[in-house]
This record gives sequence, structure tokens and C-alpha cells, in this order.
Amino acid sequence: MLNFTYYNPTQLVFGKDTIKTIGNHVSSFGIKKVLFLYGKGSIFKNGVYDTAIASLKEHNIDFIEVSGVKPNPVLSKVHEAIKIVKNNNLEGIVAVGGGSVVDSAKAIAAGAFYDGDVWDFFEGKAQITKALPIFPILTISATGSEMNAGGVITNEAEGKKWGFGSHLLFPKVSILDPSVQATLPTIQTVNGAVDGLSHVFEAYFGGTSNTDMEDELSEGIIRTIIKHTRILIEDPSNYDSRSELAWSATLALNGINGVGRRGDWSSHGIEHGVSVFNDIAHGSGLAIVMPAWMKYVHSTWPEKFERFAEKIFGITEGTREEKGLKAIETLRAFYKEIGAPITLKEVGVEKKDLDFIADTVAKQGVLGSLKRLERDDVYKILEIAFE
Ligand code: NZQ
Ligand code: ZN
Repeated sequence: MLNFTYYNPTQLVFGKDTIKTIGNHVSSFGIKKVLFLYGKGSIFKNGVYDTAIASLKEHNIDFIEVSGVKPNPVLSKVHEAIKIVKNNNLEGIVAVGGGSVVDSAKAIAAGAFYDGDVWDFFEGKAQITKALPIFPILTISATGSEMNAGGVITNEAEGKKWGFGSHLLFPKVSILDPSVQATLPTIQTVNGAVDGLSHVFEAYFGGTSNTDMEDELSEGIIRTIIKHTRILIEDPSNYDSRSELAWSATLALNGINGVGRRGDWSSHGIEHGVSVFNDIAHGSGLAIVMPAWMKYVHSTWPEKFERFAEKIFGITEGTREEKGLKAIETLRAFYKEIGAPITLKEVGVEKKDLDFIADTVAKQGVLGSLKRLERDDVYKILEIAFE
């Protein structure tokens, strides 16, 4: 295990009927006027908008709404909201939706106190020194953004989907009522599940040995996500399974599953290159890219892939190599079973596009920890992912 400091100051309020507490939480920070940020309108269909607004009003909190944050959120929307925040001296952000809304809130929160372009933080040209307090109401479990300090935004003008982070961006309080996720289209539940699994894999297969505690935790999260995603596909309103999936996805990327070991994160880097190219959902991109990455790197760490095979899928027959490969195929079969895409071809990418995607990914520099990946490695992984 590597040395680590674990720090996570986000207060997570989890469970049924918790959204109505938003006003109380915001006012407990002495905040009187907020940006109320959301996506394309799902919050009107499941009652989240009405409940949250009623609670803010009850606590005499003024708000200005900005809507229309899209999946794979874009910098222009962040710029638009920063202007509104600055012009109206808003004191906090209530971010209602999924990772796209919460990540946008993080960029707005940091941009609110910066005179230059918020994109400077992504390019490493400036450091975040102050940020507005953020209060997410999460409506889709996937990214862990509700309890971590990172975000991902697409700079559509430059064709870059990049991440940024600062300990100042941990949400103050996040509200997670799994029951409101019953309205998710099945593919979104699936995207969330794949994203949660992928966050665990990035840490699990990062290359650090002697991390038994973390591995056991990872394996618990993986098994829980697989089990409850299957249930939710049949029964989307199953509250117990919604809760299990939601808490698993939070644990997958609130830092606790990552401590004491390096993460790899090259599959995420490659996926961001894919989704900046054709705007597919992050989880769908990962279902395609991550098993391809696994195929490319598994021989670097056969012991770990054998452990994965045995502990997750109960694969005990064959050589170490065979078990690892079988586990990767079983994971792919699971993704197919739950309706996730498993090839780039299926999502409209053509063979001739792979060069462009590899070049886009390469703008991030060399990727990976288990195996360092140059641009040509990325291209080979994209070829495996193609069909
Ligand atoms: O926009 P609305 O109408 O709200 O619809 C959303 C959106 O279309 C819909 N939705 C959300 N809750 C719903 C619902 N529909 C019905 N009922 C509900 N209860 O779901 C769609 C997807 O929402 P989005 O926020 O895009 O999903 P997700 O949470 O998966 O976020 C994905 C973004 O987060 C980034 C991804 O790259 C992507 O841009 N990531 C952020 C990370 C982080 N901050 O730590 C890490 C991740 O690895 C990831 O990169
Ligand atoms: Zn992810």
C-alpha cells in the first residue's frame, strides 16, 4: 500500500424524501441567493424541481435559474452561467442533475472568482484559489461527482474534453435520493453502472500491489453494481436496488476506493477522446473502451486479472492468462446483456476516424499507470474496440 492522506469534507445526505432538506442545508451556510442549475428538463418530470424550489422558498433563499446543461457539458454554458453569477453576486450553486450539471457547477464555482477564462484551470495555466459553495441534488448515479473534487468539461471550440480539480470544489452538502432515479431511461441506468464499474477498475488495475483492503472493497462494489443493475433493468422502481447502485457509484469515486494505490485512468482518457468526437454518453464509451484496454494490457499484470476472474466471475479453470481473458470476455458479455454498446462501430465511428480520435486523445499526453500508453498504443486499443 502506498502512503496516503484521505480527505473528503462533503456531507452526503442519502435516502428517500431528502430533497426537501435542500433549503435548510443551504441556509445553514448563511447563503441567501443561489444559482439554480439544471439540465434539459428531466427534473420537471420526476418532481425534483418542485420539491427543491419549494424548499428554497420556504427558507427565503432567492435563486436564478440556468437550465440546458447538456450531457458532456460544454464550456460555453459554463461561461454563460459565470456571467450571471458575477452580475448578480450569487453566493452558492444548487446543482440539480447528474455529473454533467455537477461538473458544470464546479467550473462555474471556480470561475466566479477568476478574472481570466475558467479554461485556464484545465490547461494548468492558473490555480483555483477560491470557489463558491456547491450543493448538488443528484438525479443519476454514475460519476461520483457529488462527493469528489473533480470535473470534466468539453471545450467545444478546441475539441478538448478535459478534467480539472481542486480540494476547494468538494460539494458542501450533496443530496442523493435514489427514488428519483426511477425515471431514468434504462440506457442511462446502464451508463451509470458502467461508469461506476470503470472507476473501480481504474484503481483496481492501476498497477500497485499489496492493496488487499482496497481490492476487497473494489470487488464488493463491482459485485454489487453487477447484481443490482440486473435487477433494475427488470424493475426500474426497485428502491433497494436503486440505493445499492447509488451508494456503490458514490463509493467508486469519492476517493475511498482509490487510496493507497495509483489509478490508471487511461480508459477514461481514451473515452473522453471518443465522446468529444461523437458526443456519446460517457458510460457507453467506457463499455466499449475499457474491455479493449484490458485486452491490450492484461499480460502486463496476469496475477491481477486472474484474481479478477476468480473473485468476480468465479472463473477457476485454465491458465492464468486464459482466466484473465475469459473474465474480460465475461465483462463484455455483461455489458452486452444490459444493453450497453460494446464496439465503436455500433456508435457510428468509422475505421477512418480512429486516427483522428487517437490524435485527440494524444493531446492529453502519455496516458496510464499500469502500462504507459503513447499515441500508437491508443490507436491499437481503438482498433480492438472497433468491432
Ligand atoms: O438533462 P436532463 O433532462 O436532466 O437529462 C439527463 C441527461 O440526459 C438524464 N437524467 C438525469 N437524471 C435523470 C435523467 N433522466 C430521467 N430521470 C432522472 N432522474 O440523464 C442524462 C445524463 O446525465 P449526465 O449528467 O450527463 O450523466 P452522468 O452523471 O453520467 O454525467 C456524465 C458526465 O460526467 C463526466 C462525464 O465525462 C460526462 O461528461 N464525468 C465526471 C466525473 C467526475 N466529476 O468525477 C468522472 C467521470 O469519470 C466522468 O468523466
Ligand atoms: Zn467515468
